[in-house]
Amino acid sequence: MPLGSLFDSRGLPRLLAVAAVLFAVTGGQVALAQPADAGHDVTFTKDVVPILQRSCQICHRPGAIAPMSLVTYEDVRPWARSIKRYVEAREMPPWYIDRRIGIQEFKDDPSLTDEEIATIGAWVDAGAPRGNPADAPPPVEFPGPEDWRMGEPDLIVAMPEPYMLPPDGPDQFPNIIVDPGLTEDRYIKAVEMKPDARSLEVVHHATTHMTVFDDDITRGNFLNEYAVGKNGDIFDDGTGRLIKAGTKIRFGLHLHPYGEEIPVMVKLGLQLYPSGYEPKYTLISQHMGDDDDLLIPAGQHSVRTDGYTLLTEPAVVTAFQPHLHTRGQAQCIEAIIPQTDEEGNVLKRAPGPYGAAPLMEQVTLNCVPKWYFNWHLVYNYAEHAAPVLPAGTVIHVSTWHDNSESLRVNPDPRNNVVYGQRTIDEMSFAWVSYYYIDEAEYKARVAARNARNSNDQQ
Ligand code: HEC
Repeated sequence: MPLGSLFDSRGLPRLLAVAAVLFAVTGGQVALAQPADAGHDVTFTKDVVPILQRSCQICHRPGAIAPMSLVTYEDVRPWARSIKRYVEAREMPPWYIDRRIGIQEFKDDPSLTDEEIATIGAWVDAGAPRGNPADAPPPVEFPGPEDWRMGEPDLIVAMPEPYMLPPDGPDQFPNIIVDPGLTEDRYIKAVEMKPDARSLEVVHHATTHMTVFDDDITRGNFLNEYAVGKNGDIFDDGTGRLIKAGTKIRFGLHLHPYGEEIPVMVKLGLQLYPSGYEPKYTLISQHMGDDDDLLIPAGQHSVRTDGYTLLTEPAVVTAFQPHLHTRGQAQCIEAIIPQTDEEGNVLKRAPGPYGAAPLMEQVTLNCVPKWYFNWHLVYNYAEHAAPVLPAGTVIHVSTWHDNSESLRVNPDPRNNVVYGQRTIDEMSFAWVSYYYIDEAEYKARVAARNARNSNDQQ
């Protein structure tokens, strides 16, 4: 299969080509990005406010999760140097995809362009001038805690009672199981989770799982993630997630004490397809590349583990999310793809001592080169950039852990660490969301991607 069909125009192969051209033109000196309107005086009202509105204020406003508001000039001015440092280091906004490799088009990507970072830098270096108040865009109205951003749910699953979070102490990670009383299998069309107004400042993130108890085995299936600023998950048309009769919802909360006792309340909203309706595609979110034999020796960093998961049918991958604990360091996800000819037949090597093995190609989908335990982020691919993979593709997840003293959040570098559920144990896998398509549709989608890519190249 031609590589181009995997990616759209900003994918890996093109990136490399652009880098090579830049290198040729500049003789190796890659020019630094310039602020958007270099030459003009960069001001808060004209240049900085639009950036803060798009990428920061959802968290940095009164009553939201971040420690300070970045709405007015008075709010922002004392933080100017710190803002410059954080955005230049790409630590804020939270978005940790490696920009040099892999897919770069996502839904809801809040990250700053190089120009925006240069604009903030130029503004701070010029003494952080306010500028003309008339230049500022109107303030953004953010959704209130009572608003469902996906629209009204058909089913609301609420915690039975608030969880009382003490005013101080370490972060807490309660698990709460709720029975929504579902008596028939249904398909979910959209899902959203939200804390109530009082809990907004303390819910750092939260997940829900669909939990089924059968044959005394508890099976969990990742449903949804709440992270500040996230929209509901509204599945592509004709795509749904199955929720089986009798499923219980498990809320997994990450709570951050805030100086006063807070009754934490989180709700899950579901929009459902009509009873009896089966959507064309069933979206699955599952662990991939698990390595449950983890051993991370005391004091060591860059300890690598690898895990592999086979896709048995052609698939479209819609999202990925690294799942590591406090000692997580980095993760990459790649697809090992059987190569096919124009008709979609798998290409094989000439028969050798191991038989006629298929030709495989490794392609990095994405890397998260630095893991921050505070930020469990889901990276949702833009629809036109979501990888379309043939049957027989192996998803390979490489993970690195850091158990050294230099990791500030390391609970104890003197201990060997193994796999386990507790936060002080470790895990190594990625949540991957995907749906299977049939062979005919696979071929049609590859052809459409290739046509698009060759149009882009003209
Ligand atoms: C998804 C929520 C979110 C977004 C979006 C976000 N921040 Fe933050 N920011 C936080 C939180 C929470 C903290 C506190 C530290 C932590 O948990 O990482 C923080 C910390 C900071 C700090 C350090 C504060 C200190 O105490 O030194 C700076 C500076 C900052 N953010 C600037 C920004 C800027 C500038 C943007 C936009 C370009 C931005 N942030 C976007 C949530 C966010």
